[in-house]
Amino acid sequence: MNSDQPMPAPGTASPPVVFVLLGAGGDLAWRLVVPALYDLYRDGHLPPRFALLGVDQKPGTARSLAARLHDGVAENSRHGIGQDTDWAKFAESMDYVSAGIDQAGALLAPRLATLERDWGEKPQLVLYLALPPAFFGQAAESLAAAGLNRDGARLVVEKPLGSDLDSYLELERSLGRHFAESQIYRIDHFLGKETAQNILALRFANPIFEPVWNRNHVDHVAITVAETLGVEHRAGYYEGAGALRDMVQNHLLQLLCLVAMEPPVIYAGDDLRNRRMDVLHSLRPIPENDVDRYAARGQYGPGWIDGKPLPGYRQEPGVAPDSDTETYAALKLYVDNWRWQDVPFYLRTGKRMAAPAWEISIRFRPVPHRAFPAAPGEADKPVSLILRMQPEESLRLRIFVKEPGSHRRLRPVSLDFAYAEEFAGQPPGAYETLLKDLLAGEVGLFMRADQVEAAWRLVDPVLRAWASQPTDFPNYAAGTWGPGCADSLIAADGHAWLIPDLRRREHG
Ligand code: BG6
Repeated sequence: MNSDQPMPAPGTASPPVVFVLLGAGGDLAWRLVVPALYDLYRDGHLPPRFALLGVDQKPGTARSLAARLHDGVAENSRHGIGQDTDWAKFAESMDYVSAGIDQAGALLAPRLATLERDWGEKPQLVLYLALPPAFFGQAAESLAAAGLNRDGARLVVEKPLGSDLDSYLELERSLGRHFAESQIYRIDHFLGKETAQNILALRFANPIFEPVWNRNHVDHVAITVAETLGVEHRAGYYEGAGALRDMVQNHLLQLLCLVAMEPPVIYAGDDLRNRRMDVLHSLRPIPENDVDRYAARGQYGPGWIDGKPLPGYRQEPGVAPDSDTETYAALKLYVDNWRWQDVPFYLRTGKRMAAPAWEISIRFRPVPHRAFPAAPGEADKPVSLILRMQPEESLRLRIFVKEPGSHRRLRPVSLDFAYAEEFAGQPPGAYETLLKDLLAGEVGLFMRADQVEAAWRLVDPVLRAWASQPTDFPNYAAGTWGPGCADSLIAADGHAWLIPDLRRREHG
């Protein structure tokens, strides 16, 4: 990525940055944005002239903001607080503006002017809306009225970007009145995950995968993002969202894009976004009157995880006792292009599943003829490549070998590679990667408006059909692998979800 390029040579000072954080008192700022900025600071990726202007409604000062964010950083940053002097120096870059959204622009403008005067240079301006999306339009207007949408200013927003196609388009119109598309950085944090980027490295840096990465050799692809967490404290948001909007419309579709896209010429910018967009553009629409053939949903009831009894979704705080919100969603998709025609891509995600497991399995077609028979029960196991992202990042190739002995029989075995065994240290978190790219103006890992729109176009018919059909919720117990209807969805094609093999490899 561009942002991996070295810092400017000594003598050529990097331009100053003003990072405006609207919603500085909120959870997103506390848990993710500021800890990532602090990690960038610790690694020397913030310029010496850097100011963090926190904006929130509550009265406060730079000092009270720093005191509050201190704990968020201690708990959530990769480096931890470290030396007090590191934190103190970082905290010096903070200032606080107590303002409602409508006054934010007007109150920020003079602060910005002062910094510009002190620095003798116009800083790079970042406007991060760590706010509920209902306020995005108002915030864009307030910032623009004070001239903060000036050329080069970058506006950052993140999901939920709408709750369906129409509301998304309306949201975009409200931003587009004040900011150009090239100024808007939409975060899908999965794209910043090291593991997501490794998918492309694996595919495009090794000559052995691409030749078989197509419909001639791949039978089907399954993408699983299973969480053991329930809805936690987020019922207020989740009740109106559900798994399809929360995870599939954005994160899982982006993982699918990384698996299915064509090689970009360079791993950056619109080249990367165009290749992902091509995939979204090629997804076969799901007919609203036949949704059950392509989609399945579920909601967890009471169950057990790790020996602990857990309530069902409808018993969680803040959830309606008759809620029809899905906590599990599965889709069967087809990418209608030369590479993937008729290869099913199965996507599934759920809360309170049996284990935290994120994996992508590429299952290959069988050989045309087997001269060696397979051991009993092993014949139908496909040769497969499993890219595991959680709980540990690893890669497993399942192949057949001959069983030792005078008999001629095949047995599947695994070739394994675990990142932690090869590389020491914790890689940068998703927000760190994305914020570093943002400061460098590198857009490749951010979502373009047409990508988000295409994703809504795909899931909209499913949302509409589900809204009009009764449910049989709860239909899976907490601590299991999801509802029977999702098994039937894939079984209709003669396939089955792989139960993730969660045995950890012995290290050393
Ligand atoms: C978020 C979803 O976008 O991603 C959550 O809203 C989900 O429901 C989360 O748990 C998973 O991502 P991560 O990075 O927190 O594991």
